[in-house]
Amino acid sequence: MNAAPSGSAEYFDGWYANMVGSTRRDELKQRYLGLPAHLLSTSLLPWEGIADVVGALRLSPGCRLLDLACGRGGYGLEVARRAQARLVGVDFSREAVRQAADAARAPGVEAEFRVGELSATGLPDASVDALMCIDSIQFEATEATYRELRRVLAAGGRSVITSWEALDRSDESVPERLRLVDLRAGLEGAGFLDVEVREPKAWRAAERNLWLAAAELDPAEGPDVRSLHDEAIRTLEGFDRIRRVFAVVTAP
Ligand SMILES: C[S@@+](CC[C@H](N)C(=O)[O-])C[C@H]1O[C@@H](n2cnc3c(N)ncnc32)[C@H](O)[C@@H]1O
Repeated sequence: MNAAPSGSAEYFDGWYANMVGSTRRDELKQRYLGLPAHLLSTSLLPWEGIADVVGALRLSPGCRLLDLACGRGGYGLEVARRAQARLVGVDFSREAVRQAADAARAPGVEAEFRVGELSATGLPDASVDALMCIDSIQFEATEATYRELRRVLAAGGRSVITSWEALDRSDESVPERLRLVDLRAGLEGAGFLDVEVREPKAWRAAERNLWLAAAELDPAEGPDVRSLHDEAIRTLEGFDRIRRVFAVVTAP
């Protein structure tokens, strides 16, 4: 049982620590999102979505890529490997950063991982050429976070942000953190250019199938399976009240 306040860094530390040695979540990700076993995901970006991210970022070899709220680092490492970029991953969970640094020991990518916040990464101004933030901005979708994305990104740099938004922001049955996500308004408000918000339908279909399978798990298998099962029931209940969003922007 994780007694830390939901959504806090301590909560995520416990979440990540419980994942070590627990295979169910990873098995479902591999099966329904098409991810290879080495790619440690704690979100819902499918394998085919990684190509969308790489294409949108227009990376060049040697450029510096920030994976913000990187979790265990899997997506950032994969994107950096494909584009031969130098990766910096930031997350406020020390345990996530520790696991990401372990994963980065595999050869082929220059990567470092640091503890930092969505709204306060600790990186210098204009210090990255590209930025990805996968399924995480909903934890702090504030003006301060959008400003931070803009602050660290060099002029002309591209950023990809994936998340979910409420179809109706006044619908109180949708979790508040999702009702607060408005990528277009947040990114335009921070001064980004060419703000494009897509709705990737194929990603959403993979997600539904994953949650349907998780809802069939036996919660009696153990605490990690129960947590996954309960998350699936909650998510499916509100599934049609939210939409998947994928934003691409350029820094002025
Ligand atoms: C759903 S996971 C996604 C992780 C990773 N991007 C991925 O796709 O596998 C959300 C991540 O956001 C991080 N996070 C949540 N709130 C944060 C904050 N305020 N500052 C930095 N990281 C945060 C969590 O620690 C967690 O690693």
